[in-house]
Amino acid sequence: MTNSTAVAHPNIALIKYWGKRDEALHLPTTTSLSMTLDVFPTETTVTLLDAGEDATTLNGAAAPGPFADKVSGFLDVVRTLAGDDRRARVDTVNSVPTAAGLASSASGFAALALAASNAYGLDLDRRALSRLARRGSGSASRSVFGGFAVWYRGEGTGAEGDLSSYAEPVDSALDAAMVVAVVDAREKTVSSRTAMRSTVATSPLYRPWVDSSALDLVAIRQALADGDLVTVGEIAESNALGMHATMLGARPPIRYLAPASVAVLDRVQQLRSDGIAAYATMDAGPNVKVLCARGDAADVDAALSEVAGVTSTRIARPGEGVQAR
Ligand code: PMV
Repeated sequence: MTNSTAVAHPNIALIKYWGKRDEALHLPTTTSLSMTLDVFPTETTVTLLDAGEDATTLNGAAAPGPFADKVSGFLDVVRTLAGDDRRARVDTVNSVPTAAGLASSASGFAALALAASNAYGLDLDRRALSRLARRGSGSASRSVFGGFAVWYRGEGTGAEGDLSSYAEPVDSALDAAMVVAVVDAREKTVSSRTAMRSTVATSPLYRPWVDSSALDLVAIRQALADGDLVTVGEIAESNALGMHATMLGARPPIRYLAPASVAVLDRVQQLRSDGIAAYATMDAGPNVKVLCARGDAADVDAALSEVAGVTSTRIARPGEGVQAR
């Protein structure tokens, strides 16, 4: 097949990926765990060309240079695997604001991994597909799967690390929702790649967070299997704020939290005081995602939409893994 389309959704980590031990292969320092959402899909079509150069569009217009370069770099990985050096046209439509800490790189590279591997005739199982998606953006490995997914750090570097670092689904008995509170949908000023590198190199708080993350992972898997929202939420919120603490400890400091993000965190705490189990998590941007029970999602959404500085909200539920169209 020379033309293939795939759709993927973002995922939001409850146990974060922050820091690489192998930059080239995107091998992480820690194992992470996430929920794939049912909103903000990315749809990507890859068409092989008989001549010319790679050409990438984003939302119907020529993609910015750095975006197109990342896509071509990823296609090189696929071309090497397939033994086929044809160039390709890549058309991507993102319904989530790009690069605003709303996981557009996760849905983007998961969709590209499936569309490109199908277009180039690779027949990859889901594990191999998650390893391939990882090469585009680490968190994309998890968007290959629906529901909750764990991405193993794996062991070693180079080929050994590449083989052992993949994602897979995890059991969950939670009836969960996630409310996304957008406070700023503009593109972030520091990329997660740069911020991770600087945190690992300079933050004295990084190692302790890595150590506590390993314990968080074991405990959250058990709580997910038990359907224990309170424990899942408490661990997720601590893990996320701990990640942001490692960045605040970097030199110079990196701060993604905006005043409105802090206002949302306060509101979430207030919801808990009012008896609603709601827990916040944040990524490489100022937007806040709030985990809660499905039955509480409308109330949480109403509360967050009234916080000063919140420009929009969206209720998400666990969504599907990447699919061919
Ligand atoms: O996959 P990247 O390079 O966009 O890194 C994303 C890292 C976080 O979103 C901050 C955390 C995570 O695990 O998704």
